[in-house]
Amino acid sequence: MLLRAAPHGALSGAVALPGDKSISHRSLMLAAMAVGESRIEGLLEGEDVLATARALRAMGVEVERGAPGCWRVWGVGVGGLAEPSDVLDLGNAGTGARLLMGLLAGHAFTSFMTGDASLRSRPMRRVIEPLARMGASFVSRSGGRLPLAVTGRTDLLPIVHESKVASAQVKSAVLLAGLHAPGSTTVIEPLPSRDHSERMLTAMGATIVSEPTETGGRRVTITGQPELRPQSFVVPGDPSSAGFPAVAAALAAGSEVRLERVGLNPLRTGLYATLVEMGARIGIENEAVAGGEPVGDLVVRGGPLRGVEVPAERAPTMIDEYPILAVAAAFAEGATIMRGLSELRVKESDRLAVMADGLAACGVAVEVEGDDLVVHGAARVRGGALIDARLDHRIAMSFLVLGGRAEAPVTVKGAEAIETSFPGFAELMNGLGAEITEVKESLA
Ligand code: S3P
Repeated sequence: MLLRAAPHGALSGAVALPGDKSISHRSLMLAAMAVGESRIEGLLEGEDVLATARALRAMGVEVERGAPGCWRVWGVGVGGLAEPSDVLDLGNAGTGARLLMGLLAGHAFTSFMTGDASLRSRPMRRVIEPLARMGASFVSRSGGRLPLAVTGRTDLLPIVHESKVASAQVKSAVLLAGLHAPGSTTVIEPLPSRDHSERMLTAMGATIVSEPTETGGRRVTITGQPELRPQSFVVPGDPSSAGFPAVAAALAAGSEVRLERVGLNPLRTGLYATLVEMGARIGIENEAVAGGEPVGDLVVRGGPLRGVEVPAERAPTMIDEYPILAVAAAFAEGATIMRGLSELRVKESDRLAVMADGLAACGVAVEVEGDDLVVHGAARVRGGALIDARLDHRIAMSFLVLGGRAEAPVTVKGAEAIETSFPGFAELMNGLGAEITEVKESLA
């Protein structure tokens, strides 16, 4: 599907964002591990999360959709999944695949997992290695990629895993496996990554201790074999999805947009801190706590931005936001230097290369220096390019935001990828004043 974004004026209005993707995956999986009925409100009904729901159903968990966003899950208890009779297809979902591998490690049956071309290209060894040390066995394509088979066991060994990358997916996979192991399983991460799993598991009655390390990271320990209490989960709006209308509004003078009930977990808000450093006018109103997470309305006003340097240590708090930050940087005065982006190479696409190429195609001066991305901003950006989303929702949405401020429309090919995380993206943006339309393939 081709979507085209034409230049628009000031944006205005108030919108609610779709549910947080990370918390939605976790709500389904953790509810499945509880004993009894959990309710989920505000679940993201995007392709990625639906793939997780399907996988859980295939393993005997009753998962039922009620009103939009309202789901019920009848948990089978820790270790209670049943052997699936078919391959589990997680589609585009890295979180779905990796967290599920943690759960499957604790079940004494063999399951087979695959995904789309993007997911099949992503590294799984970072999860396979610790889970294998705990006692699960894996057979995978060379390089540790999907498709793979996992055979778990009920008597997993508790381990201490020192992760080389600050990855919430790796941390969560090991913690979920740790649910099935007797005693304490520990993950040490070099920098703190999003802590939704820890918050949710604690609320469900698990014992989790999270403490800072001397080198600025975190050591997280879970005590295995708890009985998890079912919950009423409330999923906040996704701060990563909010980044797209937020940047679109920040870039258009005269804009005023309210993004309601966005999750504001401090391990997710690096984009907003960076935009404020760039001079963006972003206020937070109606702060509250929902489902154990801080939430609030983001009120974004348009105005000039200037380039900044984003330190590598901030990356885990905005890891999914670099594509849209790079778009903001393209319109800022001066250079924006984003440091330490090696993890961007292993996302849904190689986001470092894809952003650099796409920005260059739109007439933006950009350099990749090692793992750093440097974007030289300009008041006017040519646009006028055809960008292939490469099965990456955030690439698609980022270039549609760029097209809204460029001199000539930007067309995105493969825009259906947006469905994985942000159903209704074009309608929401157009409701605020954007000009995103579908174009026929032959007219591209
Ligand atoms: C996620 C963690 C991050 C992020 C992804 C969602 C999660 O991945 O990029 O979109 O839900 O735990 P990594 O753990 O690979 O950094």
